[in-house]
Amino acid sequence: MKILAIESSCDELSIGVIENGRILCNVVSSQIENHKQFGGVVPELAARLHLENLNWVLNEVQEKIHLDWNTINQVAYTANPGLLGSLIIGKMVAETIGAYLDVPIVPLDHIEGHIFASSIDNDFVYPVLALIVSGGHTQIELVRSPNDFEIIGSTIDDAIGESYDKVARVLGFDYPGGPQVDKLAQLGTPTYQLPLSKNDQSYDFSYSGLKTAAINLIHNLNQKQEPIKINDFCASFQEAATKVIAMKLERAIQEYKPQTLTVGGGVSANSKIRTTILELGKKYQITKTIIPKFQYCTDNGAMMAQLAYAKFKKK
Ligand code: KG4
Ligand code: ZN
Repeated sequence: MKILAIESSCDELSIGVIENGRILCNVVSSQIENHKQFGGVVPELAARLHLENLNWVLNEVQEKIHLDWNTINQVAYTANPGLLGSLIIGKMVAETIGAYLDVPIVPLDHIEGHIFASSIDNDFVYPVLALIVSGGHTQIELVRSPNDFEIIGSTIDDAIGESYDKVARVLGFDYPGGPQVDKLAQLGTPTYQLPLSKNDQSYDFSYSGLKTAAINLIHNLNQKQEPIKINDFCASFQEAATKVIAMKLERAIQEYKPQTLTVGGGVSANSKIRTTILELGKKYQITKTIIPKFQYCTDNGAMMAQLAYAKFKKK
């Protein structure tokens, strides 16, 4: 069983190929350099660049694994959520290849893909409790099978990655600034006071309050001409952004008693998030605790291919 999967939901166009559960290739064309000058992703530009990059991605896949297109049994693609223009490009490509090869065309959910990224080379034991932390989402899901996902908590406003990037931008870092904030946070001490948003008994999250408080603090310090201790500031932001996640995830573990604990999405590359997951897994002696390999944290086709294969196997 060979599946070709296309991911195009945001500013990465990527194709992954999986054969009987083994990832054969994961080609990613990132547009970060093109969007940097605007301080964030410009949806219209993202869709147009996907079209421009398509030939390169397809050729790269073919060259890397000497792909005989007739051996593909299924074409999968990210159908939602994501930027409309970007998603449409992926759908058109999938439908064209699928129709040409006369094989099934399978639409997939991007968040489910992020969850399955960590099951590449490391099978899940169900039920799985998954934290999804990305530029567009902050969620906790309970996964009972590749076809059974229950969202038990979600952000009510900004996503965690989005708040990292916006605070980073005010600090003067290039887009996406999340990784830079994480890097400096590891060198600092959380000495600045920032609020813990939505620190309540629900499993929902909120990041707009923290983002605003952090940006206001930067402006206040600037007005008073007080130098910002940048490493300590980043450490304080990271502490506030991840502490509520750790507390809510711990409560979810106690309530849902998962066999696997995992994390997915761009922010799963974050050092504090990764140690939090590993520590919770150890504390509750969860059968499997899996953090994704770095190349599968941000958007990629391999995770969608993995999800498609898991669904196929289950069927
Ligand atoms: O999953 P992803 O590639 O795109 C979406 O589906 O949103 O996530 C991208 C996000 C960006 O906001 C980026 O700043 C953030 O992931 N990110 C990080 C780190 N690495 C990537 N945020 C904090 N710490 C990191 N180490
Ligand atoms: Zn994503």
